Amino acid sequence: MEIEYRLMKIEDYEQAYALWILCGNGLNDKDDSREGIEKYLKRNPNTSFVAVCGGKVVGVILCGHDGRRGIIQHACVSSDHRREGIGGKLVELALDALKAEGINKVLLVAFKKNAGGNAFWESQGFTLREDLNYRNKALAEMVRIDPDYVKE
Ligand SMILES: CC(C)(COP(=O)(O)OP(=O)(O)OC[C@H]1O[C@@H](n2cnc3c(N)ncnc32)[C@H](O)[C@@H]1OP(=O)(O)O)[C@@H](O)C(=O)NCCC(=O)NCCS
Repeated sequence: MEIEYRLMKIEDYEQAYALWILCGNGLNDKDDSREGIEKYLKRNPNTSFVAVCGGKVVGVILCGHDGRRGIIQHACVSSDHRREGIGGKLVELALDALKAEGINKVLLVAFKKNAGGNAFWESQGFTLREDLNYRNKALAEMVRIDPDYVKE
């Protein structure tokens, strides 16, 4: 069946969320709630995409920028549609959309244990920065909700 690619809308939330839960992306109760994703899409309306097959969302990529750097999050393709080029096409769409907004560089984080995900990003030309430490700080209390999350 043909795959249609289009901008992600908030109406895609339920299907996208169902994919994220299955894909093992890092999720929390605030940023990944409907309100959280709606806020994200309002701020970044032109850079996140879905792949749709027979009316069903089979791939999604959240992408946005802060005016300087692009960031990709929650790239996920349904397990029965992997290795068909859908992930690559979603990345291409997101990068073209960032370029159209004048963004010159894009970053992402991936769990080290995610061998398939890291191989995918390597194939898409995302180089590993071994000279940096990734640091963050929570500004609100958030609960991790991905099913297999284990606090390190
Ligand atoms: C990572 C993911 C989005 C890739 O989607 P996809 O549609 O299967 O990717 P593509 O078909 O476009 O793959 C492009 C290339 O990436 C590489 N690649 C993709 N998945 C791979 C895997 N599991 N192992 C090794 N290489 C892989 C291959 O080089 C592939 O080209 P090929 O099929 O011609 O060999 C998908 O596997 C997924 O949803 N995984 C779970 C969620 C996840 O890990 N997301 C990334 C979070 S950081």
